[in-house]
Amino acid sequence: MGTVSRSALLFLIPTLLFSAAVSDISSDESDDLLIRQVVPEGDDLLSAEHQFGLFKAKFGKTYSTVEEHDYRFSVFEANLRRARRHQLLDPSAVHGVTRFSDLTPDEFRRDYLGLKPLRLPADAQKAPILPTNDLPTDFDWRDHGAVTPVKDQGSCGSCWSFSAIGALEGAHFLTTGNLISMSEQQLVDCDHECDPEEYGACDQGCNGGLMTSAFEYILKAGGVEREETYPYIGSDRGSCKFNKSQIVASVSNFSVVSLDEDQIAANMVKNGPLAVGINAVFMQTYMKGVSCPYICSRNLDHGVVLVGYGSAGYAPIRFKEKPYWIIKNSWGESWGEDGYYKICRGHNACGVDSMVSTVAAIQTTTQ
Ligand SMILES: *[C@@H]1O[C@H](CO)[C@@H](O)[C@H](O)[C@H]1NC(C)=O
Ligand SMILES: *[C@@H]1O[C@H](CO)[C@@H](O)[C@H](O)[C@H]1NC(C)=O
Repeated sequence: MGTVSRSALLFLIPTLLFSAAVSDISSDESDDLLIRQVVPEGDDLLSAEHQFGLFKAKFGKTYSTVEEHDYRFSVFEANLRRARRHQLLDPSAVHGVTRFSDLTPDEFRRDYLGLKPLRLPADAQKAPILPTNDLPTDFDWRDHGAVTPVKDQGSCGSCWSFSAIGALEGAHFLTTGNLISMSEQQLVDCDHECDPEEYGACDQGCNGGLMTSAFEYILKAGGVEREETYPYIGSDRGSCKFNKSQIVASVSNFSVVSLDEDQIAANMVKNGPLAVGINAVFMQTYMKGVSCPYICSRNLDHGVVLVGYGSAGYAPIRFKEKPYWIIKNSWGESWGEDGYYKICRGHNACGVDSMVSTVAAIQTTTQ
């Protein structure tokens, strides 16, 4: 999104929406023949209109004008076709109607993602290589009390802040034994940390940011407040309300984990949940299961938290056990598997292994 301000972008939206919808629909049309042969029959009994009605009721959607309603219905229909296409490309997951089904891919990317498509900072410390021979076959930080409940970033591109805070909450738990929910809004309002080597590459609240820059900010600021003392509002406030005497957790150091899957697992087991980048295109239609698309871009556009892994997800097509990562997302508990995503391990699927960072917390005096 560069340095273009959000208000300027809003004026562009009507044209963007229109072109996005048109191109989406036309590219979908070619797949329809193939899809009709594969989608289970019962599906056709539910007309798109009926499904749209269910969608509006389930997610409390209302549209202010008839034009808006009709436009959203056309987007919804395009997304139904997209979900079927995703189902074909990703048979071990279930794709369908989600709370994002009335958004074009461009709107979804703009309002619910927010990872700056940047490289990792050149000066980032590299995590030491850890032994990997004694790793457990299954591991889930939720079973060990290191993970707060799933949060909701709302329509704000602040995923990077949720990813960084999720990792810090875990690291703080490992250091202190206390699980404390911490403030994403502090980062949205106060963190304007920049990559020293790339002009304009700075954390920008709802317009995106980077987890390693967020750790750098927390390190410099001295720490973060609790969620309760600096609550999330899901928009750019424009001013920083951080109060140093309310700090609840501080960063000791952070480092970047190598691309190696076993190193990622070893760092997670040893240091707690990790901040990771991912390509979220399949997440707009994801409902449950282990996502393992045959084709998925590795352009990272979303920040999430890696909290565990499993050895045996069920893969209906390939009839074999499929190891997966357990990902905590920030789109509320109604999305995915109670707010979580499972993605297969072993292929850097959707770039999940490409941008992984770990943070260490130090005990702060004010608890
Ligand atoms: C900061 O927090 C302290 C401790 O709760 C409080 O006494 C003080 O008034 C706060 N400062 C501001 C500027 O809100
Ligand atoms: C990071 O901080 C932790 C906790 O203070 C410390 O144990 C660890 O050695 C540090 N790691 C590096 C690479 O400096």
